[in-house]
Amino acid sequence: MGLEAQWTCLDVGPGAGTLSEWLASVAGSAGQIAAVDRDTRLLGHLAAKGVKVIEADITDPAFHPAGRFDLVHARLVLMHLRDREEVLRRLVSWLKPGGLLVVSDALAVGGETSPHEAYRRTMTAYWRLLAETIGSDRHCVAHYPRMFTELGLRDIGMDTHLPAVGLDTRFGRFLALSLEQTRERLMAAGLPAAVYNAAIQHLDNPMTREMFFAMATCWGRTPTVP
Ligand SMILES: C[S@@+](CC[C@H](N)C(=O)[O-])C[C@H]1O[C@@H](n2cnc3c(N)ncnc32)[C@H](O)[C@@H]1O
Repeated sequence: MGLEAQWTCLDVGPGAGTLSEWLASVAGSAGQIAAVDRDTRLLGHLAAKGVKVIEADITDPAFHPAGRFDLVHARLVLMHLRDREEVLRRLVSWLKPGGLLVVSDALAVGGETSPHEAYRRTMTAYWRLLAETIGSDRHCVAHYPRMFTELGLRDIGMDTHLPAVGLDTRFGRFLALSLEQTRERLMAAGLPAAVYNAAIQHLDNPMTREMFFAMATCWGRTPTVP
């Protein structure tokens, strides 16, 4: 499933664009890399890397990127969209025959069952907040193999990466930032400040070992003969 030079690629919801930049570095200057996000404020640096930045809402039925792609990639995007099933159908329609769809999303693991009460309550409140406010589904990746099959994709595969907070420093930092960004909303939703603070203290302890989520990736190809 290796990325090949000269592929045309679309990175959906690139955020800060790190993966789009990597795609551009691997696919080479002849490859055409595009990145589509409804918020392109963090993507100013991509033009210099040869990435075409498109500002659009991927749930808008009127939006269709120009051309067809060898690879359509979306990481941590679909799980936050209420109409992910329809969006997935649209992503498939943007592929060439034989094109590859790669979708990664978080599969919540461990937080809601942690033996540490403050961490457990904070993570339960965190996932509930995301579900209630933007419709995030922390388990939707479990349905991707079936959804990919129903969409007619072939060569479907799935893999997961499960980092442990406390062993993987960057992942721990990611969790800390995620909680920091939602702090006010967690309090407004009823999480006591003392519980939140105890969870943060727990995460600051270098001996803490917790789970946050597994990054689950599902891939599949469109048929070569449509
Ligand atoms: C959690 S970030 C993921 C960023 C990046 N893919 C990564 O893994 O680092 C989700 C991104 O999807 C974008 N996004 C969310 N809904 C979108 C929509 N309806 N249309 C286009 N972009 C969207 C957000 O603006 C944000 O940049």
